Amino acid sequence: MPVRIAVDRDKCQGHGMCVMHAPRSFIIDPDTGVAEVVPGGAVRSSREALELAEQMCPVHAISILVEGDK
Ligand code: F3S
Repeated sequence: MPVRIAVDRDKCQGHGMCVMHAPRSFIIDPDTGVAEVVPGGAVRSSREALELAEQMCPVHAISILVEGDK
């Protein structure tokens, strides 16, 4: 099932766990210190890696949205 991923830029504090667990999907903007989703990032990492990134973010800034879920 396709997924979308998002970073809540207001919540992100640059802890970097998302980049550690899914480095093909997330980067940290060096200017702002805030994470961003790499273009096409939702399909560049395994679902498991994306879920780890979501779970390990200490401020819960990562969202994984499964297409078709309500
Ligand atoms: Fe930000 Fe959370 Fe990643 S604080 S850098 S989204 S682990």
